[in-house]
Amino acid sequence: MTTTHPESDVILEVKDLQKHFPTRTSGIIRRASDPVKAVDGISFSVNRGETLGLVGESGCGKSTAGRTMLQLLEPTGGSIHYNGRDITGVHGADLRKLRTEMQMVFQDPYGSLNPRQTIGTIVAAPFDIQGITPDGGVKAEVQSLMERVGLNPEHYNRYPHEFSGGQRQRIGIARAVALRPKLIVCDEPVSALDVSIQAQVVNLLEDLQTEYDLTYVFVAHDLSVIRHISDRVAVMYLGKFMEVADRDELYANPLHPYTQALLSAVPIPDPRKENKRERILLKGDLPSPINPPSGCVFHTRCPRFREELSETERKRCTTEIPLVQKIGNHEVACHFAGAAKIDVI
Ligand SMILES: Nc1ncnc2c1ncn2[C@@H]1O[C@H](COP(=O)(O)OP(=O)(O)OP(=O)(O)O)[C@@H](O)[C@H]1O
Ligand code: SF4
Ligand SMILES: [Mg+2]
Repeated sequence: MTTTHPESDVILEVKDLQKHFPTRTSGIIRRASDPVKAVDGISFSVNRGETLGLVGESGCGKSTAGRTMLQLLEPTGGSIHYNGRDITGVHGADLRKLRTEMQMVFQDPYGSLNPRQTIGTIVAAPFDIQGITPDGGVKAEVQSLMERVGLNPEHYNRYPHEFSGGQRQRIGIARAVALRPKLIVCDEPVSALDVSIQAQVVNLLEDLQTEYDLTYVFVAHDLSVIRHISDRVAVMYLGKFMEVADRDELYANPLHPYTQALLSAVPIPDPRKENKRERILLKGDLPSPINPPSGCVFHTRCPRFREELSETERKRCTTEIPLVQKIGNHEVACHFAGAAKIDVI
């Protein structure tokens, strides 16, 4: 393991991260076939105290990316540096120690809580696993955490099924912040909740971020939630990042045709703008990550490819993987991002 620049503003640096899942053919003789390239070479950094939003269609690899960057899944390739330290492939005691600093909040607030354990036991688990006894004892700390996330501390002995979806997500959040981690990957933490409850949970996460000086990677497919919570946004498609930019910049001036298409589907509150707006339709389904399209993985659905490019330019899209280029404050993986023509209001 190497240590570099521990004082830097960058808390997490991910380079060319890959997570491929092996697959097997069906039939009597089962053979290994091409892997699912769930995450296929993503690079990014996260600054201390910021929220990086991660957005993209279902199946594009967001959860896998989140789990792999926390070492809940072993990467197939690439590297992860946390606070300047190479943590790629750490395991055993080193990984357990890392869990005090890096945590995850899951989408399904019910599935991620053991139904046979009381809330007290669930929220106390991180202390037990790490062998840590907080000042004042575990029970007092757990009750204080419950209070902090908006739960009644007297419900310490209740079971998950006795709580609503929003309350269960608060339990998951209390467990995630129990050890005062520095970095939390929130994987669709509000997607399973009623719209009326979503804002409360997002507000809680924002308050805790300020109070505990937390850095978030926030995974969601809802672009309004991402816009609300993120400082920067990464747009993912078929295991790769298409565009990364500051939130306001990305929403005002998306450069990648995929970002433009995604944003064109978000309703605008102003009816005059909404009426004038042109929706960019993405034709076809997401291709399989087992056999992704050649060249630019987006070319089979790209409106720019379809409507604006010459034969020669298209050939480039189908044969050459676009490198990430810096255009202003954007990092964008499109051969023709500099010549963007589609306007999104
Ligand atoms: N354990 C696994 N084994 C094989 N394939 C997997 C595994 N986990 C995920 N995948 C595949 O990897 C791809 C990415 O899945 P992932 O769950 O990361 O996507 P996602 O962007 O989080 O989707 P969603 O928005 O639906 O949560 C999908 O094609 C999925 O089927
Ligand atoms: S490289 Fe080609 S196919 Fe890919 S996003 Fe750009 S224009 Fe579309
Ligand atoms: Mg997911």
